[in-house]
Amino acid sequence: MNDNKSAYNSGIYDKNIVSTLPYYLEYHNQIIDLVKAIGIKDIEWLDTGCGTGTLACRVFESRDDVRFTLCDPSEQMLEIAKNKLAGRDIRTFTVPSQMMTFDSEFDVVTAVQSHHYLKPDERRQAVANCFRALKDKGVFVTFENIRMTTETSDKVALKRWENFLSDNLKDPDIVKMHINRRGVEVFPITIEEHIKLLREAGFKSVDVLWTSYLQAGFWAMKE
Ligand SMILES: C[S@@+](CC[C@H](N)C(=O)[O-])C[C@H]1O[C@@H](n2cnc3c(N)ncnc32)[C@H](O)[C@@H]1O
Repeated sequence: MNDNKSAYNSGIYDKNIVSTLPYYLEYHNQIIDLVKAIGIKDIEWLDTGCGTGTLACRVFESRDDVRFTLCDPSEQMLEIAKNKLAGRDIRTFTVPSQMMTFDSEFDVVTAVQSHHYLKPDERRQAVANCFRALKDKGVFVTFENIRMTTETSDKVALKRWENFLSDNLKDPDIVKMHINRRGVEVFPITIEEHIKLLREAGFKSVDVLWTSYLQAGFWAMKE
């Protein structure tokens, strides 16, 4: 059985994720660039669903005025994150987003590809917990799988992902496994639904940060 909810066991996650999620490294680029532009210094940063800690590693490449709090329900993912970030200012918690209890502690909260496993009420709770975890004027950035607005457009988007997977992974059975997880193990929602969810959690400033045919990033400020 898999040791986390992604398609890959922790030990092979890093090796495979770039060929599975188009633009994976671009999510981090966008987050790092946004946080730089907002201009926060000496950042308390919570990354929930941190997986193997790649975002934190990327952040530390360009700045060291950050203390990371890394949360994930998978012990195995967190172990890898801890090893990759040895010597860095981090602390870890084995907890899913919908169970976090942080209150007004963070300047930045990120959740990258970690809430699309959740049922609607759990997802609402997860986003509410990210909102509560932020200090006033803090920023929440989330990247998630998205669904297109109609069945017709969603089919085209899914076909594009299937083509990407076929080109990169080669094995038709593995491609099928990924496609078949949609609606069964992962539950993408539309951009409009994401924006509504963020507004309902209490965020007033809610914007799309970046989008492709399969994922979108959103940034929301607590003010
Ligand atoms: C696709 S990986 C993304 C990891 C990392 N954020 C990245 O971008 O590489 C999904 C991660 O979400 C975690 N996860 C699963 N359910 C979660 C939940 N309810 N709350 C937070 N993280 C969750 C998994 O353990 C896994 O580490």
